[in-house]
Amino acid sequence: MSSIDQVGTFSLGDRRVKRLGYGAMQLAGPGVFGPPKDRGAALAVLREAVARGVDHIDTSDFYGPHVTNQLIREALHPYRAGLTLVTKVGARRGADGSWIPAFSREELTQAVHDNLHNLGLEVLDVVNLRCMFSVHHPAEGSLEAPLRVLVDLQRQGLVRHIGLSNVTRAQVAEGRRICAIACVQNQYNLAHRGDDALIDELAREGIAYVPFFPLGGFTPLQSSTLSEVAARLGATPMQVALAWLLRRSPNILLIPGTSSVAHLRENLAAAELRLPDDVLQALDTVAGIASA
Ligand SMILES: NC(=O)c1ccc[n+]([C@@H]2O[C@H](COP(=O)([O-])OP(=O)(O)OC[C@H]3O[C@@H](n4cnc5c(N)ncnc54)[C@H](OP(=O)(O)O)[C@@H]3O)[C@@H](O)[C@H]2O)c1
Repeated sequence: MSSIDQVGTFSLGDRRVKRLGYGAMQLAGPGVFGPPKDRGAALAVLREAVARGVDHIDTSDFYGPHVTNQLIREALHPYRAGLTLVTKVGARRGADGSWIPAFSREELTQAVHDNLHNLGLEVLDVVNLRCMFSVHHPAEGSLEAPLRVLVDLQRQGLVRHIGLSNVTRAQVAEGRRICAIACVQNQYNLAHRGDDALIDELAREGIAYVPFFPLGGFTPLQSSTLSEVAARLGATPMQVALAWLLRRSPNILLIPGTSSVAHLRENLAAAELRLPDDVLQALDTVAGIASA
């Protein structure tokens, strides 16, 4: 049994995945725009993740673009049975690395085909519709038209499950009226807790919540409380941040990102960390203080 088995599993559509997974975005290179910093190291991180029992990897064809998916294919194809790859569509990259909404029928269909091709798959396990009404934050706007396109692609057998990313509670409700939603992937961590109510709502409905930037993203979390707690527990601040998320709600699935095998091992070892109740209270004070 690998150590991440200790954190249990949660459903992702008709799959059950371990609650500690891996987010592959950082492998694409600086600014998530290829080429990767160190291609060999990127392949090693992916292989190490799977060797340590990770069965849920988050990606997108717009990381690179194409680079992250191509690395995943090179490192891991043919895929081990039970490995769930989750991707996203809804954006494309400009020549300068900018993030551009790509919600038309043609763009979404092309994105699904690009993901299939670059990952070497015949069907995508989970496709998140990444909302782009505002690039960096959830913003209102109807998801009906793009979701109908994904439902059509699902009917064609190209997509197994549909999820949502960077969305508001109203958009989750709208999405659930249109199709089954397997997961919601929004920004959330110890310091950035705007989705508290949504997480609890989704937990009651048995829907996975996948926080992106679980460690703070491009500016990893920093707080004296977090550092003090970590020192007291003989852990690292990043491990405490991950253990807190695992404790926060049973429907949370983690996809911490790293381009380093050492950080990957450290992050997966968070499965062994238990947070006492007084530590949880202390960590509550970090919300809104640490950089996120
Ligand atoms: N849906 C969306 O809009 C969206 C947006 C962003 C991300 N995502 C997904 O969410 C995943 C996670 O997000 P993320 O990777 O951007 O952010 P993250 O997991 O919060 O943090 C990654 C950053 O933390 C550093 N890091 C990781 N482990 C560390 C450790 N043990 N000690 C010190 N530093 C550490 C990484 O640097 P090193 O490489 O040096 O370790 C990297 O700079 C992504 O991989 C992607 O799949 C989705």
